[in-house]
Amino acid sequence: MNEFIPLEKNDASRSLSSYFIPSRDDALEMLRRYNTSDSLIRHAFAVEGVMGHFADRFGEDREKWQVIGLVHDLDYELYPDQHCSKSKEILQAHGWPWEYVRAVVSHGWGICSDIEPESILEKTLYAVDELTGLIASTALMRPSASVLDLTVKSVNKKWKDKRFAAGVDRSIIERGAKMMGIEKNELVTETIMGMRDVAEAIGLRGNL
Ligand SMILES: [Fe+2]
Ligand SMILES: [Fe+2]
Repeated sequence: MNEFIPLEKNDASRSLSSYFIPSRDDALEMLRRYNTSDSLIRHAFAVEGVMGHFADRFGEDREKWQVIGLVHDLDYELYPDQHCSKSKEILQAHGWPWEYVRAVVSHGWGICSDIEPESILEKTLYAVDELTGLIASTALMRPSASVLDLTVKSVNKKWKDKRFAAGVDRSIIERGAKMMGIEKNELVTETIMGMRDVAEAIGLRGNL
């Protein structure tokens, strides 16, 4: 289980090419290769959806943002103790461009990485990663068990209850919003909207 998964032939040749731009299909293949946990895969889809939503909002490259969202926790299932650093190693071995690798690693800034989020893509990933967890947990508490009718108000209520989803570090989300230069409520609203786009894939359509 802990063995390094060997590269495929075309992965090795990729590393020689400086023109390799990972597509969503490449990211999905990587995700499936290194992750089998339903909850981790759903989390990857949630972050992908939110990153895609923010890319549109900022007029950025949607697929690039989605790809980085999909693989941001790539190493977590197999190498939880080497989170971020193992992703860096794996992605680089597969010839992924530094811009993508850097973004992935920077989401763990202050926890498992010393690479600070700099670009708006990196700051967004940093801000929404934990928040998707709080939003998902809040949605599941509703009668609808859905993100489709979830309001910012409900999330804020749960935000204040420190025992609820205690693993979600609220201070990281606040720091992320500040980095992005947006209000926390706006961040929560937009993140809910991004998760609505992928409600089915992340198991949060509920009974609606
Ligand atoms: Fe992570
Ligand atoms: Fe994550």
